[in-house]
Amino acid sequence: MKRSIRIAPSILAADFARLADSVDGLGSTVEMLHVDVMDGHFVPNITVGPPVVQSLRAATDHYLDCHLMITDPMRYVDPLAEAGADGITVHIEAAPDPRPVAKRAHAAGIDFGLVVNPPTPVASIEPYLELCSMVLVMTVHPGFGGQSFIADMVPKISRLREMVDSRGLDADIQVDGGIGPDNARLVADAGATVLVTGTSVFRTDDAAAAVRLISSNATGEEQ
Ligand code: DX5
Ligand code: ZN
Repeated sequence: MKRSIRIAPSILAADFARLADSVDGLGSTVEMLHVDVMDGHFVPNITVGPPVVQSLRAATDHYLDCHLMITDPMRYVDPLAEAGADGITVHIEAAPDPRPVAKRAHAAGIDFGLVVNPPTPVASIEPYLELCSMVLVMTVHPGFGGQSFIADMVPKISRLREMVDSRGLDADIQVDGGIGPDNARLVADAGATVLVTGTSVFRTDDAAAAVRLISSNATGEEQ
């Protein structure tokens, strides 16, 4: 079955001093941006939060997908929604019972999704799939851009695809970490529909061309 595939460039690999220019450089190749929110606690790195989301909101109409690598996601749902986030994804490792956070996100009018780290089985999010508009399989250990794709995660993508389809859900399956032209087809064939791409898009001479290449490799069709 042909599913539509979206590329979500991760601003973590962009120049934080020129974010609006980086977004402009994508042209109309994307409709979603991936914003990695890190707190220096859930992961060793610190990145950005609501103020940067607010600035991005003023600079673009793209869907702002906020990936929360933070210990206390509940605390930042409302600030991120007010800043203009369109959706948040929350690690099941940080919110073992994610129902209250999902409820808060939905009350704030934004999408909710769950994320599994490489060692975490997809069974951990199975009871909560109905709450999710997107589920994210990490294909690197979270914290930093530019790491190598962990191919052992591919069966988790397939398993999640079965879980989503067998329930008749239409949640997107997102993959994040080390995704680029060489493995886009592999993850798309396994069932991923949203491909996060940091280094492979922003650390190139032409970000829009990089998105088109990854997209056409993922689908096997010219963009
Ligand atoms: C890693 C982040 C990723 C990162 C991906 O913790 O969640 O979104 O930006 O970067 P690349 O595509 O360079 O692996
Ligand atoms: Zn991410």
